[in-house]
Amino acid sequence: MDLRRLQRLRVTTNVHTEVTFPLPGLGNWNVRFRGHNRVDICNAMSLAFDPQLGNSSAMKVGIIGLGYVGTSVAISTLHSGIATELVLNDIDAARAEGEAMDLAHGAPFYPHARVGVSAIEDMRDADAVVIAAGKGGDAEQTRLELLNDNARIMRAIGRSLSGCKGVVIVVSNPVDVLTHVVADASGLPRSRVIGTGTMLDTARLRQMVGAQLRLDPRSVHANVVGEHGDSEVPLWSCANIGGRPLRQFSWWNDQLEDEISSKVRRAAYEIIQRKGATNHAIGLVTAALMRWILRGERRVLTVSRVHEGAFKLRDVALSLPSIVDAGGVVEVIEPEISVSEYQAVQRSAEVLREAHASITG
Ligand SMILES: NC(=O)c1ccc[n+]([C@@H]2O[C@H](COP(=O)([O-])OP(=O)(O)OC[C@H]3O[C@@H](n4cnc5c(N)ncnc54)[C@H](O)[C@@H]3O)[C@@H](O)[C@H]2O)c1
Repeated sequence: MDLRRLQRLRVTTNVHTEVTFPLPGLGNWNVRFRGHNRVDICNAMSLAFDPQLGNSSAMKVGIIGLGYVGTSVAISTLHSGIATELVLNDIDAARAEGEAMDLAHGAPFYPHARVGVSAIEDMRDADAVVIAAGKGGDAEQTRLELLNDNARIMRAIGRSLSGCKGVVIVVSNPVDVLTHVVADASGLPRSRVIGTGTMLDTARLRQMVGAQLRLDPRSVHANVVGEHGDSEVPLWSCANIGGRPLRQFSWWNDQLEDEISSKVRRAAYEIIQRKGATNHAIGLVTAALMRWILRGERRVLTVSRVHEGAFKLRDVALSLPSIVDAGGVVEVIEPEISVSEYQAVQRSAEVLREAHASITG
């Protein structure tokens, strides 16, 4: 084998560590034991550019707010193996400590990670910080009604994260407006303040369409965009299965579209009515988003950010399909959609602009 041509070699192992060593004449080589029975041996120079591996295996992740959602994000993050250090913060310090202890005791069952507590300011050197602090909604409360309480909390958290070196992922609702608030309060580049936005709605849509068609949701190519909330827009015109538009299948019809759109839109209310909160799906969504970001996978995801021109949207945060990598939302994609869907996205933006204006004066 000609080592000079080799960029990556994969063999199996079950230890977790990383070493870099020089090979005479071949530069530095990096051996990364990644758990999951996998080891990557990389030319250290190639690592900097390798979207599959990211730049470093030491990953610090912070989670702020350890209620239903924050704890679900924490356990999903640990199982995903992306974090080597997980630090937790809650305004209720005892709660954060208790969760850290509880999660740490599960260490034999997830890829190696240290779990502890931290001040928010000490998360500035984290690779990713998730904000799930604040009040959850009740069954009759819209996400926008949560706005005032949560905006105040977000401004304080955003200011504490100013200068943060990694990405900030906002989960707290109303997620679009709060993503905007955190982006402004932190002063971070807008590409690095990302709301989970309609990723959860998109997951629900794919699951429901998949269940209807008896297909794995991963084979359902469909997105929800706009507000994560009542004005969200399922993009039926470009939904497809195996490259064939959903609307071309003989058994597909408008009634099914309306039913599924409504079930997706009402999902959170229905769950909250029954169990008081939604947490598992958003935990999985957020941990997956973080993992894909930190690995620089450049997935196209319906995340929220403050827009700078896509679909003529400026200074409003909502979800559009976007390329996400280690630098955050690096490119927004304008999907080909129907006129009515385009108008619905603009209406959604209007709802969010008004909500944002109501807290900024
Ligand atoms: N984006 C989504 O798709 C999505 C899905 C589900 C829930 N949510 C939102 O996530 C948020 C959390 O929901 P939850 O059910 O976990 O609520 P929760 O009430 O169970 O937990 C909130 C936690 O935040 C903590 N907190 C409050 N102020 C804080 C501060 N200043 N600093 C640190 N911690 C603070 C509280 O002590 C509490 O532990 C809500 O806003 C909810 O609407 C979003």
